[in-house]
Amino acid sequence: MIEFWRSSIGKKNIVAVTGAILIGYLILHMLGNLNSAFGPGANEARVDWYAGWLRDFGEPLLPHAFILWAVRVILLSALVIHITGIVQLTKRNKEARPVRYPAKRLGRSVEATAMLGTGALILAFIIFHILQFTTLSIHVTPVAEGDVYANLYYAFQKWYFVAIYLGALLFIGMHLRHGVWSFFQTLGLDSPSRNAKLRHGSTALVVILVVGFGSIPVLFFTDVLDPPRTEAVLTTLAGVPL
Ligand code: HEM
Repeated sequence: MIEFWRSSIGKKNIVAVTGAILIGYLILHMLGNLNSAFGPGANEARVDWYAGWLRDFGEPLLPHAFILWAVRVILLSALVIHITGIVQLTKRNKEARPVRYPAKRLGRSVEATAMLGTGALILAFIIFHILQFTTLSIHVTPVAEGDVYANLYYAFQKWYFVAIYLGALLFIGMHLRHGVWSFFQTLGLDSPSRNAKLRHGSTALVVILVVGFGSIPVLFFTDVLDPPRTEAVLTTLAGVPL
């Protein structure tokens, strides 16, 4: 395995596979988020119920939130390996070719050229996003543990949070369109007869992800989704049942 990681081809494969793990998470996360589109519900918002289920999943066989933490460890490891691999490959390529390519290389898409830049912006977004909705450390709008629907509702009443999320989705879309395509190439799944299909497939997946994620802030901001049931929010913010 160490030998595999040391070789450039091995590193490329590992970057591709860890990228695929991260995209797998994104597909599940988008589907999970779409539960918000069911609104605040009569007693409990569907997305709050879903968030609770994520923590309870595996009980009583496994301790509380065990699966959630296992997934977190896998995701973080995949992210660290993905970034380390790319940084090392970029360094290696630079060392192998100290004279820079002319600024514009023929046949390279904007996405391909911008992979390092969009990747860095996505990393910054993920840190901000976890501080906002997981650790609840950003208190510009009300946030409370377990009240995912209310947290999203209040955040996306602010145009600047909507702008940050839609902006991030633009970079994520660019990064993934080239990333998914490169995944097929790295694993040798591309071939002249299949390339058009693979390229269109990559674009379709990215469009589904961007529209699926982007619809949530837009639905909250445009008031298509109702405010959270005040009672539930007051209960949680005060920390005691009303
Ligand atoms: C508008 C789009 C998005 C919405 C509404 C959203 C919403 C949320 C919410 C509410 C949580 C906390 C979940 C909980 O406490 O149960 C969360 C966690 C998270 N989100 Fe998102 N998210 C969005 C886009 C993204 C994107 C594009 C990424 C990755 C690039 C991402 C990565 C994560 C990660 C890594 C976590 C932490 C998961 C954990 O608890 O371990 N999210 N998101």
